[in-house]
Amino acid sequence: MIKLMIGNQKGGVGKTTTAITVARCLADRGFRTLLIDSDPQGSIAVTLRLKPEAYFSDFILNQLRLPDCVVKIAERLDVLCGNRETTAMEQRIFTMYGREHVFQNAFRMYEESYDAIVVDVAPSISLLQACSMVFCQNVLIPISMDTLSVSGAGATIFSAQTIGDSVRTPIHTLALLPTIVNRRFGLTDVVMKMVQQLSDTYKIPVLNAIRTDQIIGKAARAHRMIADIDPKAKALEDYEGATSAILDLLKPQLLSSEHQHGETIAV
Ligand SMILES: Nc1ncnc2c1ncn2[C@@H]1O[C@H](COP(=O)(O)OP(=O)(O)O)[C@@H](O)[C@H]1O
Ligand SMILES: [Mg+2]
Repeated sequence: MIKLMIGNQKGGVGKTTTAITVARCLADRGFRTLLIDSDPQGSIAVTLRLKPEAYFSDFILNQLRLPDCVVKIAERLDVLCGNRETTAMEQRIFTMYGREHVFQNAFRMYEESYDAIVVDVAPSISLLQACSMVFCQNVLIPISMDTLSVSGAGATIFSAQTIGDSVRTPIHTLALLPTIVNRRFGLTDVVMKMVQQLSDTYKIPVLNAIRTDQIIGKAARAHRMIADIDPKAKALEDYEGATSAILDLLKPQLLSSEHQHGETIAV
């Protein structure tokens, strides 16, 4: 089972776009994928104009069955949507015993139903982010081409380390993913150098960049996924490459979980 949180403490860096597109790429490769929106802004439901019968908070707090809460948005791809109630959910989780493990416990009985889980998070340091990190144990950090986005990435790496230490669960910052990259902007080279420094300091690989592509705005306006609008779009090609790189990075974990469970997952 692959679990991946998409996080950066800065907003507008391409987290939601990355979560939706990587989840879709995984589903298209045959992974039964669950995309979870843990952002109270509910960006995924808004972006894809989904009207779910129930939300993430209903699943966690009211203990509804997961299949009754998800929306199928493509072959092998389900979404568990977030909304403003996610904030109330966070307040309730705060009072729970072993709160960082709440998602792990809630999803345990559905682990057989999916091969991959991708979690989109809000741009903040919150309990939900900590729960998502502990649940996924793998963090992918999109970084757009501005310096604050690099600071947000640094803060996310630090959170992953401190949260991992405090709950004694290893949390891997899997990779840094440059997003919304346009080589014609002067700042791009400066920011890419900063990303490389972050990579050298923490020994975290940098994936090939996702180029700026108008198709992403177009897809958002049409409330569709890129693959359904233009399967040849350059941003999609870049996200396909990123997905292959992510799978390569996760291979050691997949092999060891196969070993433990005696199952075979085709990568
Ligand atoms: N590769 C890209 N090319 C052009 N626009 C992009 C790209 N990636 C993201 N965007 C746009 O940037 C904005 C922020 O992206 P989003 O995924 O919502 O970021 P976050 O979830 O980090 O706030 C959105 O308007 C989105 O359409
Ligand atoms: Mg977002």
